[in-house]
Amino acid sequence: MNDSSQNHHAKRKLIIAIDGPAGAGKSTIASRLARKLGYANLESGAMYRALALKAIDKDASFDDEDGLTKLAQNSRIRLEPTMGGNRTLLDGHDISSRIRERDVTEAASRVSVHPRVREWMVARQREMGEGGGVVMEGRDIGTKVFPDADLKIFLDADPVVREQRRMEQQRVKGEVAAGLAAELRERDRRDRTRAVSPLVAAKDAVVIDSTQLSEDEVAARVEELVKKKLNQRD
Ligand code: DC
Repeated sequence: MNDSSQNHHAKRKLIIAIDGPAGAGKSTIASRLARKLGYANLESGAMYRALALKAIDKDASFDDEDGLTKLAQNSRIRLEPTMGGNRTLLDGHDISSRIRERDVTEAASRVSVHPRVREWMVARQREMGEGGGVVMEGRDIGTKVFPDADLKIFLDADPVVREQRRMEQQRVKGEVAAGLAAELRERDRRDRTRAVSPLVAAKDAVVIDSTQLSEDEVAARVEELVKKKLNQRD
């Protein structure tokens, strides 16, 4: 890399979208890539999880679009990318671990079907990422949040493998994995069939199937794509 291309990179940081279903390895790859590039890793799912937690705490119905939209509008949801991982703050409180629990996971998938809730989330996500220098992961980043993202990756894997990965993560945390596979399948179904911004690969996304790939192999492919993109822009 010569000096001028380095300057160029310094000036124009990419927006990288990583979408895909749960258990495909998005979070791991996104945080690894962000660390490598010195970019912010913004996990959009954490925002839906934060709203879901607020709905649980306030005893709000997951089916009440109006109520949930108002709840979102009256919330301060912040993603704080730190070197040690991402923190999620809701109204000033660190909820990073709580939002990984199963009740919140299930609720997040339900609150995220509502168009007006999504509108609010998408607006916040655009504000956070529009300056570039971000790896944003989710379900609709390449299709809706940043349709002009510099690079779009759709990370997929066989459902059985995704279920096994989730169960292993649960086991490592020392938590019960019973029923997890069925829950994951149901969330998948909901994410893929909702009327607004369903989980689907953008037409110009590079689809990577991680079923047979190790984390290092996926990371190497993604890094190769980023390198190409940076070179193209020189
Ligand atoms: O990625 P995750 O498992 O933390 O996401 C939690 C839920 O939020 C998931 O069921 C779908 C929803 N979600 C979404 O609809 N759009 C996004 N961009 C990110 C997540």
